[in-house]
Amino acid sequence: MRTQVAIIGAGPSGLLLGHLLRQAGIDCVVLERQTGPYVLSRIRAGVLEQVTVQLMERLGLDARMKAEGLPHDGFNLADGERLIRIDIKALTGKEVMVYGQTELTRDLMEATGERGLEVVYEASDVALFDIESDAPYVTYTKDGVERRVDARFIVGCDGFHGPSRKAIPESVGRSFERVYPFGWLGILADVPPCNHELIYANHERGFALASMRSETRSRYYVDVPLTEKIEDWSDDRVWDELAVRLGPEAAANITRGPSIEKSIAPLRSFVFEPMRHGSLMLCGDSAHIVPPTGAKGLNLAASDVHYAAEALLAFFKSNDADAIAGYSEKALARVWKSERFSWTLTKLMHRFPEDGPFERRMQQAELDYIASSEAAQRSIAENYVGLPV
Ligand code: FAD
Ligand code: DHB
Repeated sequence: MRTQVAIIGAGPSGLLLGHLLRQAGIDCVVLERQTGPYVLSRIRAGVLEQVTVQLMERLGLDARMKAEGLPHDGFNLADGERLIRIDIKALTGKEVMVYGQTELTRDLMEATGERGLEVVYEASDVALFDIESDAPYVTYTKDGVERRVDARFIVGCDGFHGPSRKAIPESVGRSFERVYPFGWLGILADVPPCNHELIYANHERGFALASMRSETRSRYYVDVPLTEKIEDWSDDRVWDELAVRLGPEAAANITRGPSIEKSIAPLRSFVFEPMRHGSLMLCGDSAHIVPPTGAKGLNLAASDVHYAAEALLAFFKSNDADAIAGYSEKALARVWKSERFSWTLTKLMHRFPEDGPFERRMQQAELDYIASSEAAQRSIAENYVGLPV
């Protein structure tokens, strides 16, 4: 088949981009390796910045998010007994939206039929060809038959492990990476949250995060060494650890319940440059990963999609090839700022095995400074709520 844009991956970036292109009358097809239910079973992000909310509004797919999402105007940093509230609304005039990636993806997925966005699920062996030409193509196998999609552009929205980034020759690309010595063990349970706002805690036993999906569904994380196995973490052990790390006040309000999902995700900072080569553009986790502290991953995927859609619209509607050429630089400027923020907040809130008393004093001094300085709080708030696109 022939189309204008072949999109690889039907996670949030692929579906958002597909819908934006279809809304503008641009032909595209999305190729996804997994089934739809499998994509929805991956429990990930929970906090949306305005850029992500605004894309859903622009698509007219914001009704459920507005009805069921929880607008939050602040969050908390806990250090032992001390709780520092960052009042993002008072400091920036903006707020974030607590609405699960699963729900956002479901809203995008359910609208594909009525909007004529073609998504091919269970497309295996996806491979990219001739990306340095004006006539790139993708091959894949579906139901045992090899198929081919010819396009003017290919957009790689296929996550960290997908084939798109790897299609860019090593001679033109450069990777920047930081791997962290721990992962986040997450638990999802149908119990009310322990606090009405998120709490990021730095405790001597390690990091903990109290988050939520709704008034009746909680999401919690603790950091664990990469050597830990999920089988060794019974629900009780996770709840016990959370109660210690989140501090006595939050612990008193924790409602325990059986986990409906429990998994360990490694932490990584990663950026690949450039985010475009020839007729291939990269969006979201295919080009970069942030450690989850600060909730930036999904929102960065959304800002990439915003820039990519803008460039593709300029190309197809106004024959503007410069917009495509400028995509990588524009997207990377925002990516690096989010990388910086996620890395800084990770360093501030986790106990690194290689750190000693000096590094701990640095964390304490920084938390003291944040607690006492509105300027420091505003800097955190404007990054948390999302830098302008
Ligand atoms: P993905 O969601 O990874 O989607 C890529 C898609 O491509 C997948 O569906 C995959 O199946 C498909 N694919 C892969 N290979 C192929 C192939 N060969 N052929 C075809 N398709 C392929 N971000 C936030 O903003 N806020 C948060 O609060 C937050 N919390 C997080 C918590 C955890 C525990 C984790 C793990 C991540 C979190 N993130 C958060 C990050 C966020 O989930 C990701 O940044 C986001 O999913 C990126 O979207 P994406 O569409 O680029 O990639
Ligand atoms: C969630 C994940 C994050 O990485 C974060 O910073 C805040 C919330 C969550 O899954 O709810």
